[in-house]
Amino acid sequence: MDIEQLLLSFMLLITDFHRISCLFVTDINVPEIVDFRDNVTLSCSYDMSGHTLNSVKWYKDKMEFFRYSPMMHPVYMKFPVVGIQVQDGKYFCNESTCRVDLSLIGAKSTGTYKCEVSGDAPHFKLAAKADNMTVAALPQSDPLIESFNSMYRMEELLSATCSSDYSSLPTRLTWYINGEQASLGELQPSIDTSIPAHDYILRRQKLQVRFYLSGPRFYHAGKNLELKCVAEIENFPELKRETSLNAAITHYDNLNNQMLIHAGSGVSGAANVTPHHNTLQIISILFAICFLVNSALFSL
Ligand SMILES: *[C@@H]1O[C@H](CO)[C@@H](O)[C@H](O)[C@H]1NC(C)=O
Ligand SMILES: *[C@@H]1O[C@H](CO)[C@@H](O)[C@H](O)[C@H]1NC(C)=O
Ligand SMILES: *[C@@H]1O[C@H](CO)[C@@H](O)[C@H](O)[C@H]1NC(C)=O
Repeated sequence: MDIEQLLLSFMLLITDFHRISCLFVTDINVPEIVDFRDNVTLSCSYDMSGHTLNSVKWYKDKMEFFRYSPMMHPVYMKFPVVGIQVQDGKYFCNESTCRVDLSLIGAKSTGTYKCEVSGDAPHFKLAAKADNMTVAALPQSDPLIESFNSMYRMEELLSATCSSDYSSLPTRLTWYINGEQASLGELQPSIDTSIPAHDYILRRQKLQVRFYLSGPRFYHAGKNLELKCVAEIENFPELKRETSLNAAITHYDNLNNQMLIHAGSGVSGAANVTPHHNTLQIISILFAICFLVNSALFSL
């Protein structure tokens, strides 16, 4: 072997090495958290950089459930793995990307999902990427606010209850009164209920808020009261749900005034002057005045 041949083989080795190291998985797309009732799409992209694609394999917890091998027959293969079901005909792979649609079973579908790409002979180079997916029973509706009225009087005691939807992940409820978080003293101890369903323990939380409509919080808020209940799931801020409701706050005097006007006596003018008296009192005052005027006239 002369020097020239040695150099040539060395160069080949270098280009070879370069070719080998080039195969890699550029991206994997596995949802972090999903509801067990949903279908999910897993996808992965790869850069073959001159290699020929031999196969793409999908694994759940190290067990292969799907294979794409463009040079074999059949091109697509499915393998039974507990917790997942590749949907019929809902997959597509080529030289740069591979996508599969799954239906889920429940908690058993939680796991590490891996996409592994292999190049053809002579190197059969492997590249892979993996990601975790949590399959849970997620709340399907916004929190529910109960026993809340559309109108309250100033100084009145308000109490309302918020319930989260059933979920297999722990939910935290928070009340906001006109945008401010309710203090501990305004909350009753929360009540949790749990039921077993779909292989999960589903939990719902109920939290009651109780407070008097008094103090600067309400003087500055105008005549409107907004109550908001927020349901959050730890570690998954994107799953936050909330409900808010509004009520009008009526001042005690105004309400009394309105009662007077509604009483319909022909003394609405007097009612505006003496808002704290009821109709009967006003009528008696009028009678008294008449009596006084009469006796004054009589005495003349
Ligand atoms: C999931 O896919 C199946 C089969 O394609 C379909 O019948 C079902 O409605 C889908 N479920 C959802 C929640 O989209
Ligand atoms: C593979 O399929 C994707 C999606 O249909 C497409 O965007 C891409 O160009 C295809 N790649 C090749 C190498 O054919
Ligand atoms: C997936 O979860 C396992 C165990 O729960 C953990 O060790 C691993 O780091 C996680 N992988 C990713 C990509 O988050």
